Amino acid sequence: MSKQFKRTLITAALPYANGPVHIGHLAGVYVPADIYARYLRLKGEEVLFVSGSDEHGIPITIKARKEGVSPQDIVDRYHFLIKKSFEDFGISFDIYSRTSSDIHTKTSSDFFLKMYEKGEFVEQETEQYYDEEAQQFLADRYITGTCPICGNERAYGDQCEACGSTLNPTDLINPKSTISGSKPVMRRTKHWYLPLDRHEAWLRHWILDEHKEWKPNVYGQCKSWLDLGLQPRAVSRDLDWGIPVPLPNAEGKVLYVWFDAPIGYISNTKELCGQQPEKYGNWEKWWCDQDTKLIHFIGKDNIVFHCIVFPTMLKTEGLFILPENVPANEFLNLEGDKISTSRNWAVWLNEYLEDFPGKQDVLRYVLTANAPETKDNDFTWKDFQARNNNELVAILGNFVNRALVLTQKYFDNAVPALGDLSDYDRETIRNIEGVKNAVEQNIEQFRFREALKEAMNLARIGNKYLADCEPWKTAKTDMSRTATILNLSLQIAGNLTIVLEPFLPFSTEKIRSFLNLPKIDWKKLGSIDLLPEGHRLGNAELLFEKIEDDVIERQVQKLLDTKKANEDSSYHAKPVKETIAFDAFEKLDIRVGTVLECEKVPKSDKLLRFLLDDGLQKRTILSGIAAYYPDPQALVGKQVCFIANLEPRKLRGFMSEGMILSAEDADGSLALVEPSKMVHPGSEVK
Ligand code: 2FM
Ligand code: ZN
Repeated sequence: MSKQFKRTLITAALPYANGPVHIGHLAGVYVPADIYARYLRLKGEEVLFVSGSDEHGIPITIKARKEGVSPQDIVDRYHFLIKKSFEDFGISFDIYSRTSSDIHTKTSSDFFLKMYEKGEFVEQETEQYYDEEAQQFLADRYITGTCPICGNERAYGDQCEACGSTLNPTDLINPKSTISGSKPVMRRTKHWYLPLDRHEAWLRHWILDEHKEWKPNVYGQCKSWLDLGLQPRAVSRDLDWGIPVPLPNAEGKVLYVWFDAPIGYISNTKELCGQQPEKYGNWEKWWCDQDTKLIHFIGKDNIVFHCIVFPTMLKTEGLFILPENVPANEFLNLEGDKISTSRNWAVWLNEYLEDFPGKQDVLRYVLTANAPETKDNDFTWKDFQARNNNELVAILGNFVNRALVLTQKYFDNAVPALGDLSDYDRETIRNIEGVKNAVEQNIEQFRFREALKEAMNLARIGNKYLADCEPWKTAKTDMSRTATILNLSLQIAGNLTIVLEPFLPFSTEKIRSFLNLPKIDWKKLGSIDLLPEGHRLGNAELLFEKIEDDVIERQVQKLLDTKKANEDSSYHAKPVKETIAFDAFEKLDIRVGTVLECEKVPKSDKLLRFLLDDGLQKRTILSGIAAYYPDPQALVGKQVCFIANLEPRKLRGFMSEGMILSAEDADGSLALVEPSKMVHPGSEVK
């Protein structure tokens, strides 16, 4: 028997306030957390749902430096943008605050001091890179140099983005400070470390023995960390942006962002409870009472911090409860590529709403139906369109619409009487009742995809019921039977407003207004007395609309443009070759030829055979560009440039008399070089 709790505290990872939020954030953390919070509230449970912006850390200082503004300017800009996006998508936080607040500074400082006074840190001096010109220690990201593994000259102190290797700053060849460009030197610096190794025994027992129910991806990652052996981790940094280490002689030192960020959950709870004590009670009730169930929703890159580091902080501080579960998701990719803020490879929530106003639920639906719960998943615009058109429009929208329109038509928009039930009606009612349990089981085990599938089954049940019972036919002969069919159909629609509320809050609100119903408690799910006989319905509108191909093509094009722009900006032209004398150039005879024939060379993927009119005769040249010109016939009649005096070579049984010129693009693709207007074949290129 699992422990019964009195209330649930739900936290959703604090996103960094250094950019807007995108679909990966929603799918990985905020939609599942919101589904869970809405579900528990609908069940009448006591819930607190907290998040906020993570406003410290190096990426924010780097962005500020790049733009020549202060870090506070950056976080002010993005905090409000992020907060608005979450509100727009119906993420129902009780509070969304920020880590640059005074209450957070105080809470984090006190937390650190309490641990410090209890002797929970180890002080240690190490050598770190220091920029003498800028007079500051350098975070790993502020150092670049040559990767010792692949030779990339722009590797960072923590990672080489070219070959993906994890690095230490001291691994870099020719390290350089990105702040002043100077060569950094080694200097001693003191930091405070959390000796995780001291806590290994209880962490092992707590996670590996007592939380076997955690998701396999979370449990597995924790197990490998624990099996590798935990190391002390520094909880301070040499930086001028963050919460100052609250000790004497700690000038220039701040708390490491990963120390203060999770404390943000506590500060934000304190802030809310201070503002509305009647509604939420005191903050200690949420954080220090064993009857509170604490659940952290996060992405997979945050697992170690939420399952190992933060619990160690909570336990050593002494007052706090530990998380009961940490249902971390894997990552969502976009059209086959990793989502990346710096490469602008993302669907930004604010932009989505500009392109798809009012369609928040479509995105919530697609991201839940395709959530990266057990493995990384891919978001594609085609799938988005298909799920909208084939599921939301064709199943849910269609059912609700038919139930309403038929009631309007045959019963003047009032709920008709439920008459005698047939065996088939009874079977349908049993199916309706079955949905509740199936959805609950899945939500409570953090299987939101499956839960949504079960919830949508109710709409499927409704569609099948209407299709099988054909009330438009019975209306010709038996109005009492028609009344029963439509009554039951409307009850199904009423049930949909309950079961879909956690997933599609905007649409359920609409359905409620069509049905003229208030919000109904979860416990009523499965009942067939939600709409009494004679109850007048509201006005029905379209619930979902079909998304056409051209709309999707525009989104795909937008991504292709991004890809192209990225390639262009990452393209580094090769250095120019050694200088040659003019007469060396003059030796090359470059000409224009007109293509007479062009076809693929049999049994070769790469080669095209050209027959050119070179002004004097016909000439055959083979060129390795077949991959870039899938329709060789289309080249006939065009003009190309070629080297006319290159020694002929035999290739695949053909004598190739010269070389056709083409340009190589950033991605290695080849494009033929053509004169900008037609010239006489044989013209010299000079
Ligand atoms: O990975 C991130 O985006 C972090 N800002 C998450 C912090 S979660 C918590 F600790 F606040
Ligand atoms: Zn490398």
